[in-house]
Amino acid sequence: MQKPHAVYAMPDHDEGARECFVRELMVHVQRDLQPGKRALYDRVVKPRFEKRHQRPPRTRHEVRLAMEQEPYNQMWSALRRTTQEIMQDVVGESVERQLPGLIDQCRNVSPCGGSLRLDAGVVVPRYLSAVDIHCKPGGYHTELAADDVYAGATYERTNVVFNMGTGGPLNDDRARSMIRFVREHFPDLRPRRILDVGCTIGFNTLPYVDAFPGAEVYGIDVAAPCLRFAHARASAIGKPVHFSQQNAEHTDFADGHFDLIVSVILMHETANRPLRNIFQECYRLLAPGGVMLHMDTPQYDMMTDPYDQTLGDWSTYYNAEPFWGTLHELDLTQLMVDAGFSRSRAIETTAPSLFLEQAGNAEFRARARRPNLFLAGARK
Ligand SMILES: C[S@@+](CC[C@H](N)C(=O)[O-])C[C@H]1O[C@@H](n2cnc3c(N)ncnc32)[C@H](O)[C@@H]1O
Repeated sequence: MQKPHAVYAMPDHDEGARECFVRELMVHVQRDLQPGKRALYDRVVKPRFEKRHQRPPRTRHEVRLAMEQEPYNQMWSALRRTTQEIMQDVVGESVERQLPGLIDQCRNVSPCGGSLRLDAGVVVPRYLSAVDIHCKPGGYHTELAADDVYAGATYERTNVVFNMGTGGPLNDDRARSMIRFVREHFPDLRPRRILDVGCTIGFNTLPYVDAFPGAEVYGIDVAAPCLRFAHARASAIGKPVHFSQQNAEHTDFADGHFDLIVSVILMHETANRPLRNIFQECYRLLAPGGVMLHMDTPQYDMMTDPYDQTLGDWSTYYNAEPFWGTLHELDLTQLMVDAGFSRSRAIETTAPSLFLEQAGNAEFRARARRPNLFLAGARK
């Protein structure tokens, strides 16, 4: 499924076999074991709760605490966590084996019109440095070698495993789906400059180059090892993007510099106060008529059954994603209004995945009928 490029940390035969094993184990846990949890909840846990409390569980916390006692649920949870850890180990070992050569390749790549601006003075916010986010050792920012790209190269490979092919050959389906949404909802928008905040390695930055020819495309992140890899990867794929190391809460771009500002799964990895600051910064950076659009997984108020909320919320407690729960219950429209956007121009909606919709695989096409890309944004 994956389209390799010049700086892709290619697994060898045995590493590839181990990756396939982890991916199949993930599929097994999700597709084969997860339905058993639902049955356990419906047939045992919920009726027991109702008998005890004379009402059904009202919140995801009540469901989680009731389910936590169940050995089947404990086994599912332990397996899910273990696959996440094995995935990091398997990919990490393979990238470590190749790291000196990969660093050299990334240093020597020819930029094809893009650029990389690093700033050693950027402080990685504590909400990122205090936790190995989703069990990624050292997070996005840790550097152990000169010009390190380990965090970036591993991010690419773990996404290939974790997304199970649903991101498309360059793992950029979320941006492609967002671009379709932008075209449908803002047909008059002709962005001259586009910014992707929290771009990591630029998976979802690159598609804007072809989607809006002539526009300048920028990506910012606080994590230098990811940005080095992003720049090398974009150059290898032939997409001119300007990457810089900046905190999205306060960038050095001028007021009104951008017509389109996007992010992909930045929100659920960001603490509440910084997210508020990022929305305010987006408002400052947008030209009048410009559009801000952030993509994540659906908010809890879009799920009426608290059981469904617990599936994502698992990450808050067991996958080192401490802001998952708080993000998904935030009033994002209010956050946008507080940042300066007009309430009547704020959007909270879902969109389907372009890749799943067009996939040859019938299971993928069926999944596309349940739009699962959540979008929060506004026009200035
Ligand atoms: C889940 S990743 C984003 C993935 C990426 N957008 C993609 O499509 O693959 C979150 C990224 O946001 C970055 N980040 C978090 N807070 C940030 C901030 N305040 N300023 C800049 N980058 C930030 C992290 O370093 C990390 O690389």
